[in-house]
Amino acid sequence: MCSIIGYKGKNFAAPILVNSLKRMEYRGYDSVGVATIDEGKMLVRKGTGKVAEVNKKLDMSHMLGNIGIGHTRWATHGGVTDKNAHPHAAGDNKIAVVHNGIIENYKELKSELIKTGYIFASETDSEVIAHLLNLYFNETKNIKQALMKTCKRLQGAYAFVAVFDDGTIGGVRYEEPLIVGVAKDGYFVSSDVLGFLEHTDKAIFLDNGDITIVNDDKIQIFDFNGKPVDRPITQVAWELGDIDKGKYAHHTLKEIDEQKLSIVKAYNQEEARMKKFLRILRAAKNVYIVGSGTSYHSALVAKHVFGMYAKMRVEAVMSSESKYVLSFLDEDSVVIAISQSGETADVLDSVRLAKSQGVKVLSIVNVTTSSLARMSDAFLGTNSGPEIGVAATKSFTAQLIIIYALADRLCRGKLGLDKEKLIHAVDSVLSNKSTIEKLAQELKNNKDLYLLGRSLHYPIALEGALKVKELAYVHAEGIAAGELKHGPLALMEKNTIVMILNPHDTTFNDTISNAHEIKARGATVVGLSDQKEDVYDYWIPIPALSEEAFYPIVEVIPLQFLAYYLAVGKNIDPDYPRNLAKSVTVR
Ligand code: F6R
Repeated sequence: MCSIIGYKGKNFAAPILVNSLKRMEYRGYDSVGVATIDEGKMLVRKGTGKVAEVNKKLDMSHMLGNIGIGHTRWATHGGVTDKNAHPHAAGDNKIAVVHNGIIENYKELKSELIKTGYIFASETDSEVIAHLLNLYFNETKNIKQALMKTCKRLQGAYAFVAVFDDGTIGGVRYEEPLIVGVAKDGYFVSSDVLGFLEHTDKAIFLDNGDITIVNDDKIQIFDFNGKPVDRPITQVAWELGDIDKGKYAHHTLKEIDEQKLSIVKAYNQEEARMKKFLRILRAAKNVYIVGSGTSYHSALVAKHVFGMYAKMRVEAVMSSESKYVLSFLDEDSVVIAISQSGETADVLDSVRLAKSQGVKVLSIVNVTTSSLARMSDAFLGTNSGPEIGVAATKSFTAQLIIIYALADRLCRGKLGLDKEKLIHAVDSVLSNKSTIEKLAQELKNNKDLYLLGRSLHYPIALEGALKVKELAYVHAEGIAAGELKHGPLALMEKNTIVMILNPHDTTFNDTISNAHEIKARGATVVGLSDQKEDVYDYWIPIPALSEEAFYPIVEVIPLQFLAYYLAVGKNIDPDYPRNLAKSVTVR
């Protein structure tokens, strides 16, 4: 969603903040802003566009002062306009605020503040925070009191950072992440460790309901009642190099290519963690796997793999639907949450719902310092490193590897997960990107794309469709191949493009029949298979694998490439698709 950052230290704040915002831009990228305090005077510059564009226009990085806050926005309340960009200032520029999350009761607060004489400059929910801080600061002449009183008025999920013209920075965490970076020559308060990892790997992860104040070269942390709380300093492990695109045109392409390595990192799990995870899983009578978007597709693959190999019946549930279906769990159930970010609001809601019923929560998560990892009884890290492209790519295949590793343990090795063979197979699909690039050229003007698959291939049809929609803005639909005759066949005609996920496994005979049915209606058939068939107008080769469970890995990579090249062919920036954000921390 939005990214927020504050800095107070010995260096100029603005260039540091602009750089941090660039690193966190994947979280939200419709507008940007920075506020600094220079000799007791607040300076604010903000506007719509990406960080580099706005910086070029407004020269934010040359603002003076060694204290400041910054923001990248993903609009929720109020359109994408300069006025709605953060920071929002109040009290004649005495206070400025950047916010991530949603203030649910902002309408009531806003009308109350307007009645008291406050004038609002934006349509955002966030601006109420700035005016409330101003109101309570005027009343108490005390920043700590102003922060505490403001928090008590806010409802919703939020994290915010405020800067005061005396040089104090205040930060609050409530259901949205906020992390303090402790550097040699200053402090950061940020929604993501990527905001400060270039300067320090020492982090304090604030808990829900924590308020922090950075002033006089020190930091205080207390709860909403003002009681001091102790939070440890943790060392953050990620390699900074991973955040750069290197020789690649886009993060997305780099991250697709990285999968040869990232699947190995996912495979290499700490034995003690794995054992703890399996112990809880084995003890469960009912297993529900939750996730959103791509991570939900992993849950669907898990449902098949656990069923086929471990003979374990599990339910895959979309996190956004969980409150309607998981509100009556037995205590001997287990919920496995899958998430790249570990901050997706819907996923965290599912976890809270499970915990409120006394159910144990396991997670498969990339960001191991995230809220999800912290809330879980045990977790396995996908170890993919930062995924900057908004579309999930390497994190998806890493999730699948963990699912295979778990299933293999549960069925005592019958699945036969062989790291070397998988790397070889992944390597071969990665080296075939030029075939997909050519196909993307031919398909780039098509308005619709259908993807068909059965069993394990159906979640990959859904995932391929999601990638094509979000990256290339092409209408794409994943269809369970057996459902074709129950309706979608009506769509098949000349110029319809259908991709068939069709390796030679137990689904082959049924799916090839579907290919013929489609072809007979004049549609174009693209076969994604280990063998060429006459019915295919185009063939995307994938390697033949010993076990059908592993096909999702080699099927999804060509689809990731297809979505990427379709986007590039249409001049869309695949790293930052319109209207989306990497981590969806709103409901
Ligand atoms: C699709 C995509 C999203 C995410 C979803 C869940 O490419 O990136 O659908 O998969 O928002 O995010 P996480 O996995 O962070 O919970």
